[in-house]
Amino acid sequence: MPDAALPAPPDLFDLPRAADPSPRAAALLAPVADLPPGLVHEARPGYADPPPPFYASPDGRLRLYQADALELLRRMREESVDMIFADPPYFLSNGGVTCVGGRMVRVDKGGWDKSQGIIGDHNFNLLWLDQCRRILRPDGTLWVTGTSHNIHSVGYGLQVLGYKILNDIAWYKVNPPPNLACRYFTHATETILWAAKSAKSRHTFHYPLMKEQNGGKQMQSLWNIMPPGKSEKRHGKHPTQKPEALLTRIVAASTNPDELVLDPFCGSATTGVACARLGRRFIGIEREAEHLELAAKRLEEEYQSYHQQPRLDVTVAEATKIGGGGGITEPMEREDALKLLEAIKGSDLVELATRHGQRIFHEKELEGQIKRTLNKGWAGLTLEAYLGLPKNSRREPNGGSWELKQVSIRQQRSGIYAAKETMQITMLDQSHVIANPFESSHVLHKIGRFIVVARLYVDKAETSSPVAIVRAADISMQTAGIYQQVERDYELIRRTLKPGERPHTTTGELIQIRTKGQKDSSTYAFYATKHFVNILLGLNK
Ligand SMILES: C[S@@+](CC[C@H](N)C(=O)[O-])C[C@H]1O[C@@H](n2cnc3c(N)ncnc32)[C@H](O)[C@@H]1O
Repeated sequence: MPDAALPAPPDLFDLPRAADPSPRAAALLAPVADLPPGLVHEARPGYADPPPPFYASPDGRLRLYQADALELLRRMREESVDMIFADPPYFLSNGGVTCVGGRMVRVDKGGWDKSQGIIGDHNFNLLWLDQCRRILRPDGTLWVTGTSHNIHSVGYGLQVLGYKILNDIAWYKVNPPPNLACRYFTHATETILWAAKSAKSRHTFHYPLMKEQNGGKQMQSLWNIMPPGKSEKRHGKHPTQKPEALLTRIVAASTNPDELVLDPFCGSATTGVACARLGRRFIGIEREAEHLELAAKRLEEEYQSYHQQPRLDVTVAEATKIGGGGGITEPMEREDALKLLEAIKGSDLVELATRHGQRIFHEKELEGQIKRTLNKGWAGLTLEAYLGLPKNSRREPNGGSWELKQVSIRQQRSGIYAAKETMQITMLDQSHVIANPFESSHVLHKIGRFIVVARLYVDKAETSSPVAIVRAADISMQTAGIYQQVERDYELIRRTLKPGERPHTTTGELIQIRTKGQKDSSTYAFYATKHFVNILLGLNK
């Protein structure tokens, strides 16, 4: 259902004839005779009507067009978009080799990535950068990614066309493939140029948000972001797909909700995914149908998951109708919770926290200085908010028929992913444990009801944290051995407990008891060891 409250982008491709290059760009273009054929994009007669989109989300706010970018940019209305992110051809598919999954492969991203020579490539950059500047609003900004193959041409183009370069970001691709030739340093970064339309632009920059996402310190121009993992490629692969964490940061930093973002070389539409997630409007242009099919799947999924989210903004009147005095109070079934959590697999939990106003760090003033401390429960609270559960209700949604657990996992030196910490199962009720064997214990009762959500721990500053695994745990269904081992551990712990005596830390193979919080605390709880968390997450194979 189109949402009338949210404006879709107007049809912008409606110039009666394609716009010519600006005089500034025209003067800079190399003479046509010097160029390989097919590079100068002749002004074509305008289309009679705006071209139909290849894909449009039901509310029309996310759109994909199949076209040559330059052709379509030339038909777009002047000063019509707020931000442009461009990941143009890098011109690096020229017979070189690289390493993929330990194997040597030719660099061949596709015909679109082949170089036309230095002048041809530079002319191409000048032409599209010039059109982008024409269609940007006066305070708009442009981001362009690249490597040494194209970024110097782009940077020079930005300067001569009148843009003002704001930053050159070094994106460090944590864990890059090795250099096979061993004659160069390993290529580990890409550059992302950020430029305002002109020196007069009053560009948008959400400084406090970026600072918060960086653990309370000013965010620098060196960004450590992992290349997209498997979950971001679940609909298929694009050879140069950008990580969602990179695009969500860019969109969040430089745009406001509802603003219009354009990606003229959108590939699998990672920019669109970020826009859908952050409530921005999006237009993507891409030449290849194969990439557009993938882009459409990603946008549709993102649109659906955004719109399926429980509404946290219900009015008091609506909430009362549901049955409560504020917030959603209807019980949620485990199956529904699982479906909703599945829908955010691969999404950045940090972004989701921001969207739900969940603070990741607390600020305190101490001796005139602002001190920031991690809000330890932020990830669990974010999931709760996303599901629309009342705060701190994780233990008892729907009368205790299931329980939401959140853990962090991280990549080990060996490359495998494993639990970063133990996970609390239940508080220790000493007299209950002494009186009850495993079959009637709280421990068994609890574990069988868990939904465990694992997020990927990236860094201390919680720069980003993709939701990696969503699992309904049920040890009674586990392969033989697990149930019995937990039972053995439980009975071992049980034997150590004496009525009226303070318990002490006891660790089995899969579960343990220890104090909760401070070492000298008198509150004890059962925990799943890291090994058991790995088993619950299916990471032990
Ligand atoms: C570097 S990739 C973009 C990848 C994208 N950022 C993502 O995350 O999937 C560049 C894309 O631009 C497309 N392309 C190249 N030249 C184009 C042109 N003149 N017009 C439209 N698309 C073009 C290619 O097909 C390719 O998918």
